[in-house]
Amino acid sequence: MHILIVDDEELQRSLLKGFLQKQGFQVLSAANGADALQIFRHTPVELVLLDHRMPDMNGDELLARMKAQNPLVRAIMITAFATVDTAVKVMQLGADDFLEKPVDLTQLLQKIQEIQEQLFISNDVAIIADEIHTAQLPVRMIAESRAMKNVLSMVLRAAPTPWTVLLHGETGTGKELIARLLHLLSSHKNGPFIELNCAAIPENLFESELFGHEKGAFTGAEARRKGVFEQAHTGTLFLDEVGELPLPMQAKLLRALQDKTIMRVGSETPLAVDVRIVAATNRNLKDMVARGNFREDLYFRLNVIEIEIPPLRERKKDIHALVPFFLNTFNSTITFDDQALSQLTKYDYPGNIRELEHIIQRTITLARGQVISLRDLPEVVRHNAGHDRSGKLNQRLAQVERQMILDALDDHDWVQTKAAQSLGISERVLRYKMEKSGIAKNTGKG
Ligand SMILES: Nc1ncnc2c1ncn2[C@@H]1O[C@H](COP(=O)(O)OP(=O)(O)OP(=O)(O)O)[C@@H](O)[C@H]1O
Ligand SMILES: [Mg+2]
Repeated sequence: MHILIVDDEELQRSLLKGFLQKQGFQVLSAANGADALQIFRHTPVELVLLDHRMPDMNGDELLARMKAQNPLVRAIMITAFATVDTAVKVMQLGADDFLEKPVDLTQLLQKIQEIQEQLFISNDVAIIADEIHTAQLPVRMIAESRAMKNVLSMVLRAAPTPWTVLLHGETGTGKELIARLLHLLSSHKNGPFIELNCAAIPENLFESELFGHEKGAFTGAEARRKGVFEQAHTGTLFLDEVGELPLPMQAKLLRALQDKTIMRVGSETPLAVDVRIVAATNRNLKDMVARGNFREDLYFRLNVIEIEIPPLRERKKDIHALVPFFLNTFNSTITFDDQALSQLTKYDYPGNIRELEHIIQRTITLARGQVISLRDLPEVVRHNAGHDRSGKLNQRLAQVERQMILDALDDHDWVQTKAAQSLGISERVLRYKMEKSGIAKNTGKG
């Protein structure tokens, strides 16, 4: 890995450089922003360590310029003293992490190793995606779209590592299914899979729920009870809806994750626990951090590897495979005719795969014959297919355009040349339209 150190202090530069070289990294350094950009243009730098405050150009500006050239570059910002303000800003700028001065070298090395592991995982995603056969996975699932194949290849890479995985996706996209898959593919697979729904625990029972309690620890504690950490020992603990945790509980969770030991309520004896953590949320935790609703340190702890599960409307290829998949699950011999199938792919599925599953179940239960046609489909699918009917012409057109672009990209495995061709527009226009309607190049890359 090539690391570029940018700092105006000579002493700091040589200290970091010497240390990192000894660890076997290829290290370059620059004393100012201009020199750094010069090096950056000519060397394949994978990680930059940036001083936040420098005379010619501050770290923020420099990072923005580097990201403009290579959006994949990783960055650790080094700040004089870490206020929450700076840290949040640093993340908004696209830095992956930050460190306070004076730099703790052990901590630095740890952060670099995490970034290295993440790079290693995401580099191989595209290669592995082509070779995935869902039939060989320990759970039954569909992944026909490129987007979902990329998710799976992230899962395959992430599963054997000890790192915490954060699953992000709308309701019903398959977060729990993926969490189970991560467990079954990990070295903890022979241990238990324990789920904790963070949204459903009363605040006063939180500690007991997590860490357990001794008999008589509080009124009503009639017997000793194990918390989820202890139950999940040697297995996986799935923290579902982690974005719903109130701040005081976040602090307690963080402590347990850091120490890897817990204490039952009413006991003074620390217990070491060996658990793999997988967390899931449908919220944007980064935004929550910026607004002060989610602890930043907990965010960093959970988000070592982030896997984004795209909504079903952005991977319509999967719908074609999911219909027979669910029919099979329900042991049904009923089929859908072409028109009905095509209408199913036009609907937006705010409830994602779970909603599709319910729609199929309901339709076959009410079916009058062996073949489902358009009129047998539920009202919402027949009439509200595709998009919202309200709004101005411009908005409607923009919606249609966005959906067509997403479909074309998905159909062509996110190869933009081909997608543009199929839409009858130039690649340049496609890129412009993608940017305008907020379609990230990497939406399809997990
Ligand atoms: N790729 C898939 N192939 C087949 N079935 C799937 C797939 N993804 C999800 N499902 C099914 O869809 C349903 C919803 O999935 P799951 O419960 O994992 O979603 P979730 O993201 O955890 O939802 P929520 O946010 O509402 O908790 C489940 O029945 C699950 O088995
Ligand atoms: Mg769930």
